[in-house]
Amino acid sequence: SKTYKIALIPGDGTGPEVTRESVKVLKAAAAKFGFNLEFINYDFGGDRYLRTGEVLPDSAIKELKQADAILLGAIGHPDVKPGILEKGILLKIRFELDQYINLRPVKLYPGVDTPLKDKGPEHIDYVVIRENSGDVYTGAGGVTLKNTPHEIAVQNMMYNRMQVDRCLKFAFEYTRKRNKKNTLALCGKTNVLTYVFDLWERAFHEMGETHFADIKREYYHVDATCMWMVKNPEWFDVIVTTNMFGDIITDLGAITQGGMGIAAGGNLNPEGVSMFEPIGGSAPKYTGMNVINPLAAIAAGGMLLEHLGENEAASAIEDAIKFVTAYKLKSLAAGRMGYSTSETGDLVAEHI
Ligand code: IPM
Ligand code: MN
Repeated sequence: SKTYKIALIPGDGTGPEVTRESVKVLKAAAAKFGFNLEFINYDFGGDRYLRTGEVLPDSAIKELKQADAILLGAIGHPDVKPGILEKGILLKIRFELDQYINLRPVKLYPGVDTPLKDKGPEHIDYVVIRENSGDVYTGAGGVTLKNTPHEIAVQNMMYNRMQVDRCLKFAFEYTRKRNKKNTLALCGKTNVLTYVFDLWERAFHEMGETHFADIKREYYHVDATCMWMVKNPEWFDVIVTTNMFGDIITDLGAITQGGMGIAAGGNLNPEGVSMFEPIGGSAPKYTGMNVINPLAAIAAGGMLLEHLGENEAASAIEDAIKFVTAYKLKSLAAGRMGYSTSETGDLVAEHI
């Protein structure tokens, strides 16, 4: 039977606790559906950095490129200055492996509380495709006249046509494959960021007209998108957007689906190695308490299997999560629950 090599980066804080449950569930799925998973553990994160001064050795990038997929817990340590680990590990992997799509489903599972009034699972079920390689994340910019009253800080929002086109192509194809409302919404800010979104808009309509006439095209400004994600989430099917806007609106999306404890995402390189992660952080103050919700990490594991083509196993994980949220867990919105981290993992694994 088939064996997949999975690079495991549990990371910081509660990352190891939630990835442990994800691995538990993945192993249950592999056993049931007849394939093997070989996990290769990597200790990148704040502790290793504080011990050795190393974030991510170049050899690691080479090794990660050999994996079939990567599962990541969380990166971020209270004793390390913000930016070092995020840029040195998470963003470095995204860039070096050219994971140019960040796929973030916004999906309310049955039984999970949403802060949105009168909305249920039938209203909150869409996908944000966040461009993951460009924008201000490229890091171009700088500071002049530092520590003077005239100090200027520049951080450039940049896109080239190739980055825009490959993201849009993925987004159109994904919308077609999803086959729900067959509607792709571009989220931007054409009224202010005139250069960048002129490029996106032209590329969007050219590609849509030429190759995806079956997909309806919509456009929303990013500020309005936030409003409608709260007021009328059922309008959305697939949203495609730039890196920074995607970062922001997916936190909003996550809270509408019950919070960071349940939101998962995939950093995809459709031609290379992809990485799956719960979209929340390392929650350092809950470390080791066995209270953090592992469902986001488990759902990330499900996305990983779907990406590997193990669709039956992926839907079994999805069904098991739904079973647990619908019948077992209450008040997930608080990120705390009646069940511990490990018990939640057990419940999902048993259901598989
Ligand atoms: C995310 C995170 C990262 C990002 C940070 C930790 C660099 O917020 O995955 O959404 O901004 O992409
Ligand atoms: Mn974010």
